Amino acid sequence: MKHLIVANWKMNMTGPQASAFLDAFLDERFPESDVVIAPPFTSVAQVAARLRGTSIAVAGQNMHWEQSGAFTGEVSAPMLLDAGATYVILGHSERRRLFGETDANVNRKTKTALTNGLTPIVCVGESEAQRDAGDAVDHIVAQTRAALDGLGRDGASKVVMAYEPLWAIGTGKNCHADGADTAMAAIRGCVDGLAGVRILYGGSVTPENVAAYASKPNINGGLIGGASLDPVGFANLIRSAYQGS
Ligand code: PGA
Repeated sequence: MKHLIVANWKMNMTGPQASAFLDAFLDERFPESDVVIAPPFTSVAQVAARLRGTSIAVAGQNMHWEQSGAFTGEVSAPMLLDAGATYVILGHSERRRLFGETDANVNRKTKTALTNGLTPIVCVGESEAQRDAGDAVDHIVAQTRAALDGLGRDGASKVVMAYEPLWAIGTGKNCHADGADTAMAAIRGCVDGLAGVRILYGGSVTPENVAAYASKPNINGGLIGGASLDPVGFANLIRSAYQGS
């Protein structure tokens, strides 16, 4: 299985900045890995148009669970598809922590993504307090089961999972690769259908540390925030992931 490396640009990159990124980034091809870029909504269509004909895919960073309607400020699955996205990140810890995203809503959104033919990248992860209390695995197993509730084996086999310990996101305090692998084995084992899916590690991944993660059996790629904003560094990271696998 190829590694999947996802750039989560978060609330970064105006249109001109995204263009400049792609000017530099598209000098290279990455046949050994699957690569996805998740721009902010305002540049999904532009980035997707630019990537047409390449092997690089585009993701939304969130979406609503309804197809359309009176939901000011929201974006639907059909809108993401129309803009050229084929993946969507769901349940990112910043959505959960800062914007009140619940397990129930992540579950609704995951079902809607699959019904519409978008591949959901479902994020789970424990806080520092949960880790210190020894509750990390219980927490991520509960989040995973809640997010995938009612999907059945077939539905679960179509998702991508991402394990992102909250204390490692944007902090430079990355999780030890062995610890991440153990947590990700627990995710893989807790829902029928996840045995063959890709599970990504996220949280302060850099070109320097990505190989340690990529070499682990339960880690099938990365969800990359800060280190995905520089085209040269991100290209290095993708190459290092492959070399480390
Ligand atoms: P980071 O973010 O790589 O900047 O830690 C990862 C993420 O939040 O997806």
